[in-house]
Amino acid sequence: MKSLQNKNILLGVTGGIAAYKSAEIVRSLKKMNADVRVVMTKSSHEFVTPLTLQALSANPISSDLLDINAEAAMSHIELARWADALLIAPCTAETISRLASGRGDDLLTTITLAFDGPIAIAPAMNQAMWRDSRTQDNVSKLVANNTLICGPGTGEQACGDVGIGRMLEPEEVLNIFSSLFKSGKLISKKVVVTAGPTQEPIDPVRYLTNRSSGKMGYALANAALEAGAEVVLISGPTDLNAPEHLHFVSVRTAKEMHEAVQHHLNSTDIFIGSAAVSDYKPSKEYKNKIKKDKGKKSISFELEENIDILKGVSSQTKRPFVVGFAAETQDVIKNAREKLGSKNLDLIIANDVSKTDIGFDSEENEVTLITPRDDYFISKNSKKAISKKIIDFISEVI
Ligand code: CTP
Repeated sequence: MKSLQNKNILLGVTGGIAAYKSAEIVRSLKKMNADVRVVMTKSSHEFVTPLTLQALSANPISSDLLDINAEAAMSHIELARWADALLIAPCTAETISRLASGRGDDLLTTITLAFDGPIAIAPAMNQAMWRDSRTQDNVSKLVANNTLICGPGTGEQACGDVGIGRMLEPEEVLNIFSSLFKSGKLISKKVVVTAGPTQEPIDPVRYLTNRSSGKMGYALANAALEAGAEVVLISGPTDLNAPEHLHFVSVRTAKEMHEAVQHHLNSTDIFIGSAAVSDYKPSKEYKNKIKKDKGKKSISFELEENIDILKGVSSQTKRPFVVGFAAETQDVIKNAREKLGSKNLDLIIANDVSKTDIGFDSEENEVTLITPRDDYFISKNSKKAISKKIIDFISEVI
């Protein structure tokens, strides 16, 4: 199911027999990583207990417009501002009528008036009530107001009738509801990005690392997010703030980065290895700080090869579209093209790190995108602008 990571979902529950399904909806929304708050109408308490929905949502339930305590915690205006989307499930014929006529005489309807974002409803009622022309007129008004109508479904009803009117199953409701969040070229695609340097410990106070700032990887993760993708950003130590609205995984060593990549790889559509992974690590990590040996003019370390994270991804049988980076100081295109082949990549992004105004630790970059067929040069620009072009390019070719 689609991720609703970092989305604030306000669930309205009204008084119908299908209210028992709202517990499953809250559970599923939480599994989709949404933050959920529930607003219940008074009559819905007869069908499902506030305690159940409070426990499942891990947030207090709001019910009463005139409850001083509840208003002190989060007023109807604050709830309307907090929410990214509002779902009313189940939504009775009575609530549909009140929404259509713009009433604001209880907490739920008041919130819908104060709320600017998308609203979806999952109607639930007897088949004759659904077919009634007044209900149909009300539904038409809501559709004209851009309300998303999820269902209703057809089949046997709680009252014994058979026909259209029952609430869709929670999974069906949520599949339709989550379409509200679809926009951009990478909708419903999962993108995993590695970024930044790795640190390979020598002893408790020293490590091997490189000059990568992580800026390019973070910009790519943001560009993928803006294109509608679900994004996992696996980052080595950087000075950057973790971007919002994506799954951020902080790692230190190449081994940790490899493990995090393998852990998150399942059902990934695009893998972008922009991290500057240390090719080697000290063969031995000293438990205590290495003391200066005054008798010696030089000391040496043995280094051993780190696992190649990118190759680990491209060698999977059910592999994503794999993108690597080639940070080169000479024969940039030739070396990058060789890496494209040796690492079995779909795309490699070559950049010249010998210049100080682009590449490592700078705000700008200039890159060539190399596929097994063509090269595509992107002239000097901000890492943000370059990232958008790279993501556009990838979304065209996958
Ligand atoms: N990479 C990786 N795991 C490693 C080393 C590199 O996943 N252990 C990835 C980087 O994230 C990058 C690509 O491989 O996408 C190219 O890395 P680079 O260091 O430029 O190439 P190397 O294969 O290490 O070759 P060299 O250092 O000799 O240029």
